[in-house]
Amino acid sequence: MKTLFVNACIRKESRTRRLAEYLLKRLDPDYVEVKLQKEAIHPLNEETLNRRNELCAEERFDDPFFTYARQFKEAKTVVIAAPYYDLSFSALLKDYLETINVVGLTFHYLDDDLPASLSNIKRLIYITTAGGTIVSHEYGYGYVKTMFECFYEVKDQAYFFAEKLDLLGADPEAILKETKDKIDSYLEKLEK
Ligand SMILES: Cc1cc2nc3c(=O)[nH]c(=O)nc-3n(C[C@H](O)[C@H](O)[C@H](O)COP(=O)(O)O)c2cc1C
Repeated sequence: MKTLFVNACIRKESRTRRLAEYLLKRLDPDYVEVKLQKEAIHPLNEETLNRRNELCAEERFDDPFFTYARQFKEAKTVVIAAPYYDLSFSALLKDYLETINVVGLTFHYLDDDLPASLSNIKRLIYITTAGGTIVSHEYGYGYVKTMFECFYEVKDQAYFFAEKLDLLGADPEAILKETKDKIDSYLEKLEK
């Protein structure tokens, strides 16, 4: 698998998903999609955390518990589409991240206690849209950016956003077009 599309969009008419699909069509039409709201991904609870700890201690990484983590680590490019919710992203994405970050499977700690990647991932592209202004990019993309740098050593990253889509008098299609133009410029550079 070359490209994994992590789709954290919820609405049928999601504009974040539209931007992601616009990019993916040209980047890699054969992408594999994980549509988070349709997947059996749940917040960790005491039972599942204990199960996970047991499996990790026994290094049973072929267990179905780690299906999403195994899929994730094989991708070369990860494209995340996540609408801007409550200054960040929806809990769907946080649950997914807790599901795929597995010490001993997707990353590990070196002797000096620094994390190092056990994945094939070389590139992250993060896409979001916001109804208003993105007051800080740190709590949404910034958080995921640091995670990918820290656990997966991914320096090749791109971030696309469209904001102020829901403001009174806004022209959402014009705003989305501006972001699409940025995506076009990015892809042109990649293709060179
Ligand atoms: C639960 C929820 C929380 C939201 N929180 C914010 C927010 O904190 N700031 C903001 O500007 N817009 C917020 N919005 C508006 C969305 O960011 C905006 O409508 C976005 O474009 C939705 O993406 P979509 O079209 O892909 O579904 C929120 C929307 C929902 C449903």
